Amino acid sequence: MTSRRSAAIEPFLAVEVAERAQALEREGADVVYLAFGEPDFEAPAIVRDAMERAVKDGRTGYTHSLGILDLREAIAEHYQQAYGVRVTPDQVLITPGTSPAMLLLFGHLLDRGDEVVISDPYYACYPNFIRYAEAVPVTVPVHEADAFQYRPEAIRERLSPGTKAIMINSPANPTGAVLSDERLRAIADLGPVVVSDEIYHGLTYEGPERTILEFTDRAFVLNGFSKRFAMTGYRLGWVIGPRDEIRALQTLFGNFFISTNEFVQWAGVAALREAADDARAFRARFAERRRVMIDGLRAVGLGVGFEPTGAFYVLANARQYTTDSVRFAFEILEETHVAVTPGAAFGPNAEGYLRFSYASSVERIREGLARLQPFLARRR
Ligand SMILES: Cc1ncc(COP(=O)(O)O)c(C=O)c1O
Repeated sequence: MTSRRSAAIEPFLAVEVAERAQALEREGADVVYLAFGEPDFEAPAIVRDAMERAVKDGRTGYTHSLGILDLREAIAEHYQQAYGVRVTPDQVLITPGTSPAMLLLFGHLLDRGDEVVISDPYYACYPNFIRYAEAVPVTVPVHEADAFQYRPEAIRERLSPGTKAIMINSPANPTGAVLSDERLRAIADLGPVVVSDEIYHGLTYEGPERTILEFTDRAFVLNGFSKRFAMTGYRLGWVIGPRDEIRALQTLFGNFFISTNEFVQWAGVAALREAADDARAFRARFAERRRVMIDGLRAVGLGVGFEPTGAFYVLANARQYTTDSVRFAFEILEETHVAVTPGAAFGPNAEGYLRFSYASSVERIREGLARLQPFLARRR
C-alpha cells in the first residue's frame, strides 16, 4: 500500500527512546529525560493570556493564507530590530510550526533527483523532508575537533549541477554549534539558494546572532516560536523568502492547510511584541544549565571536546564506551532510567556520540548525571 516516497521516511530514534522511557514510567520508574528538544517551562504568561483573550473574542476563523497581517508585521519589525534587515510582510508566510514550513518549502523547491546539501550530524528530520520531495540529501561531515563547524570549502566540493539548495542550521541541533560570520558569508556566496533553519535563534550564549538574510537575499529563513518562547505545542512558525517565492508557497499553503490557527497567531504577536524579557530570562536559565551539563558530562567521563554555544544540546563523545549509540542509549535507559538520544539518530558521523538536552531543570540534569557516573565507571 505504501508509496516509495512514504517508505523512505525513517522513524525518529528519539521518539523510540521516549516511548520506551514512558513504558518504564508506567511500570513505576522515575525517568530523567535528557532527550527532549523541548523547554520544560510554560510559555510566557503574556502569551497565554493573549491566546485566551483571542479565543474569548472569537478570533477563531480562517485567516489570510499568509497569516494575519499583525503577526507578519511583528516578524518584519523583529528582523529590523534584531538584525537590521528589511523584510516586508508579503515576504512572510505563517505556518503551524517550522516543520510544515519545511515540508512546503522542499515541495516547492525540489524536483525528483535534485540535491540538497546538509551537514552530518544533522537534525534527524532533514533527510526525511528532502526524500519526501523525492530529492537527495548530500551530506558534508562536520567534526568535533573543528567545533562541528560547517566548512564552506567542504560544501563547495559537494556541489553539483543537481544542487538545488544548501541547508544550514545555526545554532545547530544536535551539536549546538553557531556559524561564524565569515562562514555564513562564504556559504551565501557559494551559489545555490540557502535554506536557513533559525529555530534556535534567541538561544545563543556567546556573541550576537546572525540571520542568513544579512548576507544574501537568495535565501529562505525557517523559524518559529517553539524554542525561544517555549511554545512547542502552540505550533507556530514562519518562512521568509523572496516575494515571488512566498507567493508560490502561499498557493501551496492555501491548498493544503488553508491557514494557521488564528488565536495562536495572536499569541505569536504577543510573544514578539511583549515577551522579549521572558525570552531573555529563559535564555539565562539555559545558560546556567549549559554550564552544569558540560561540566557534569566531563566529570562522569564523557567527552566534550567542543563547548556548544547555542541551542540546548551537548553532543557528547562516548566513543571510548561504544560504537553502537542506539544500543548504548537503550542500555543507559534500562539500567539508569536516564533518557538520552543516540548520536546515530543524527547521521553516521554522530555514531559513538550521545545527545544530551539541557532543556530540563538543573536538579534533573544533576540527578541524571549522578546516575550515569557509576554506570560509565563500570563500562570503562
Ligand atoms: C533544527 C530543528 N528544526 C526544526 C524543528 C521543528 O520545530 P517546530 O516546532 O517549529 O516545528 C526542530 C525541533 O526540534 C529542530 O530541532
